[in-house]
Amino acid sequence: MRVELLATPDCPHTPRAADILRSALTVDGHEPTIDLVYVSNIDDAAGLGFRGSPTIRLEGRDVVPPPPELPINLGCRLYPQPDGHLDGVVPAATITAAVERREQEVAARPRLRDAPGRLSRAFFLWASHQHWLAALATALPFTRAMVRRFVAGDRLEDAIVVLEQLRARGLTWTVDVLGESVTSREMATAAADRYIATLDALAQRGLEANVSLKLTQMGLDIDPNWCRDDNVGRIVARAAELGAFVRVDMEDHTKTELTLDIVRALHATYTDVGVVIQSYLRRSANDVEQLIAEQIRVRLCKGAYDEPHSVAFASKAEVDDSFARLMERLLLDGRYPAIATHDDALIDATIRFAAEHGIDPSRFEFQMLKGVRRDLQERLVSQGYTVRVYVPYGTQWYPYFMRRLAERPANVLFLLRSIIREGRG
Ligand code: FDA
Repeated sequence: MRVELLATPDCPHTPRAADILRSALTVDGHEPTIDLVYVSNIDDAAGLGFRGSPTIRLEGRDVVPPPPELPINLGCRLYPQPDGHLDGVVPAATITAAVERREQEVAARPRLRDAPGRLSRAFFLWASHQHWLAALATALPFTRAMVRRFVAGDRLEDAIVVLEQLRARGLTWTVDVLGESVTSREMATAAADRYIATLDALAQRGLEANVSLKLTQMGLDIDPNWCRDDNVGRIVARAAELGAFVRVDMEDHTKTELTLDIVRALHATYTDVGVVIQSYLRRSANDVEQLIAEQIRVRLCKGAYDEPHSVAFASKAEVDDSFARLMERLLLDGRYPAIATHDDALIDATIRFAAEHGIDPSRFEFQMLKGVRRDLQERLVSQGYTVRVYVPYGTQWYPYFMRRLAERPANVLFLLRSIIREGRG
């Protein structure tokens, strides 16, 4: 942090102001380097917006903003002290509070070196909604080869091959029959049929029947009641017969409330239905408390959509911090929570928190996406944790794939390299 002390050369308060500043910063754990800026004449003062000696600035902003009527001047400035009297130095507590505020602002500010990642994230999230790009991408053979990293294949049989491989590695799974934002009742009904066929096939083959679905694939945008009763309701009824688990994925924030309502309604008749909470949403702390009270199973993730700042935290630091707090609440009081992340720091924090609070690994699970951090999946299994892999299959892979590209700038390089290789070959 840039710390400046602006003063006139003859100001009697400057040495004391420097001492207070130095000790306030040291107490806060900083190693202070204070730039002493001497203001010798009224032109300098005007150029610096200087309104009295001494002035303390953090990152270019006055710790105590001058009253608006104060003229530019080279005389002393007096600051109110905790007991009310005026003195020519800024109180230590005011400095510490300003440092804390500035640090939070700096952490929340998007950093320039993150810009390429932010731009590519925005681009791929935008591209995920473009139907013309979907048509183009699904026709290109080289993209399809790349998609296989994240998606099991087009057919249920492809998914089953992947599940058998996971089983051999000691991993568990949840199956996603790809599709979202359907625009007709026929499409939604067909999607629900595919889920039921998937549940049946898993049960028949002795594979754990655990699926994840999206409500916009089940007709949420067409008619929420019909979506709940006819489509998701049918899947959940079949799941109940098979003893299967159904997770309702979370989409963008305009669907959060409706999704939670529908899950609550389904949970009233069948308890093996769970939902997803996104740590980037500001509302999530409240939602988590309610879901804990209702003992509805939660998968905690960071969130994969492009959300406005009014509803979602923008910086990685805030999203991660929110994730850590929600993870702790769910581990302490939630019903078998799923901690869905590939973030080493958050996984370590989960393991540490569980150990410190005597929470056995059988009371929660980790979840990860197919194609992401295989090394980490296997390491956690070898340490005795349950790891569930999200395995999507189906032809509607385009928006899912775009979100995976958006998550990691390196994936974009991977894509470009493969396009260039294909172009040459
Ligand atoms: P972060 O993005 O900080 O990544 C941490 C590290 O993981 C990266 O440094 C990289 O090594 C690796 N990584 C992450 N994503 C990668 C990728 N695509 N390719 C390669 N490496 C990658 N979201 C949502 O909004 N609604 C939902 O219902 C779900 N459901 C869901 C289920 C499961 C099982 C998982 C794991 C995730 C979701 N998500 C989701 C997605 C989630 O919100 C988030 O976008 C991704 O998990 C990426 O965030 P991380 O927590 O991994 O952290």
